Amino acid sequence: MKVRVGIVGCGVVGTGTVKLLLENAQIIKKKTGVELSLTKVADKDWERKREIDVPFELRTLDYREVIKESDIVVELVGGKTFAKSLILEALENGKHIVTANKRLLAEDGFEIFKKAKEKGLYVGFEASVGGGIPIIKALKEGLVANRINTIYGILNGTTNYILTRMLEDDMDFLHALELAQKQGYAESDPSLDIDGWDSAHKICILSMIAFGKYVPFEEVYVEGIRDIDILDVELGKELGYTLKLLAISKRTDGEIEVRVHPTFIRSEDALAKVSDVYNAIMVEGDFVGKTMFYGKGAGSHPTASAVVSDIVDIAKKMLFCSKDREEFQWETQPVGINRNFYSRYYMRFDVPDKPGVLASVSRVLADYNISVASVLQKEKVCKMAGREGEAIVPLVILTHKAYEKSMQKAIEDIKKLPVIVGEPVIIRVEEEAY
Ligand SMILES: NC(=O)c1ccc[n+]([C@@H]2O[C@H](COP(=O)([O-])OP(=O)(O)OC[C@H]3O[C@@H](n4cnc5c(N)ncnc54)[C@H](OP(=O)(O)O)[C@@H]3O)[C@@H](O)[C@H]2O)c1
Repeated sequence: MKVRVGIVGCGVVGTGTVKLLLENAQIIKKKTGVELSLTKVADKDWERKREIDVPFELRTLDYREVIKESDIVVELVGGKTFAKSLILEALENGKHIVTANKRLLAEDGFEIFKKAKEKGLYVGFEASVGGGIPIIKALKEGLVANRINTIYGILNGTTNYILTRMLEDDMDFLHALELAQKQGYAESDPSLDIDGWDSAHKICILSMIAFGKYVPFEEVYVEGIRDIDILDVELGKELGYTLKLLAISKRTDGEIEVRVHPTFIRSEDALAKVSDVYNAIMVEGDFVGKTMFYGKGAGSHPTASAVVSDIVDIAKKMLFCSKDREEFQWETQPVGINRNFYSRYYMRFDVPDKPGVLASVSRVLADYNISVASVLQKEKVCKMAGREGEAIVPLVILTHKAYEKSMQKAIEDIKKLPVIVGEPVIIRVEEEAY
């Protein structure tokens, strides 16, 4: 029996998926015994030039034709409103779903998985995180026997490219962003990437699988790289750190932390060496220890590879009568989210080059039980307006581990000190990132 597959959305990933299904159908059949038949592909525009010519008889403008003529409906439209109604309509009509839509799953996945469960249908979403990297399957299957303690991910290629250019080519943020846009790695509106939302969607999905609990997206702490100053990238490098936009999920005392923010990690760590548009995910389980997954996190072909792996998985279940329960088991009660992170901190204050400054900052930190690990004061003069005749220099303090709430209060007090010029810079440091 052939399993009928239909696709809605023939853009970057959709075109790659059509190409893969047309070119590798025989390889898939040989390897798995599954015979896939691409029945319909819907898009709004068939005039546009694509990497391949989609056979005329497969094309349609009407997504309902796809639902009607498929056993598995592949949603590759993106966005939330139409994609969600399409998926719910397909489920209502008894069709399995494959999607790459991380935003939809992170923000509204609860409703979609609930509906799929009611109907006894599958939702495959391997392509939603890490592009071609099979991280969802690894968490659901290969690492299933483990209690997952930590996930560290470089989950967004655009921001990793920008930070790599800043670190390796001494480019400031705006020039690095411009270059990313020229290379086609960043959208003309790059905010989903650079403000951390894309990484947040992905870590939210990974956390739900790893911890088996519902993680409300609005509970994820998100901070992007828009305000990163090249000076901090350079100072961090001198201290032996590399700056990454890290997505972090950790088990802490019955709760979990789920957060995305610029993070200094040790330059010798494997994650620090993940450069350009590559993605990597480090997962630590109680029995397996640390494992790392690396590869292309986006792009037409790598993402299509993940989409088709989901299609094959679902087709195998349909054909070979697997009695798997739903894709993964999770508690519908939201998990407790810990926002009072316990972390080391890099702080930069711009201060006048005179005695007593360090002592006054250290006093405030001590008031909040934050202990200083090391201090770096550079002679490099900052360009600071409004302090005529005064040499302003960067004072960098690295702390031992401290609680986020204490740190925020300390910073508020430090900002009030007359010696502080401008806004302090605070970057979290993760020493265990691997
Ligand atoms: N690109 C990647 O590397 C990548 C990687 C991982 C995951 N993803 C995810 O994969 C999904 C697709 O991304 P993409 O980059 O392939 O997007 P894309 O290139 O914009 O493709 C989406 C396609 O869907 C079409 N479309 C929009 N509304 C439609 C409708 N009502 N009916 C039929 N077709 C419609 C679009 O047409 P118009 O252009 O005319 O609107 C476009 O051709 C997104 O959820 C994205 O987050 C992408």
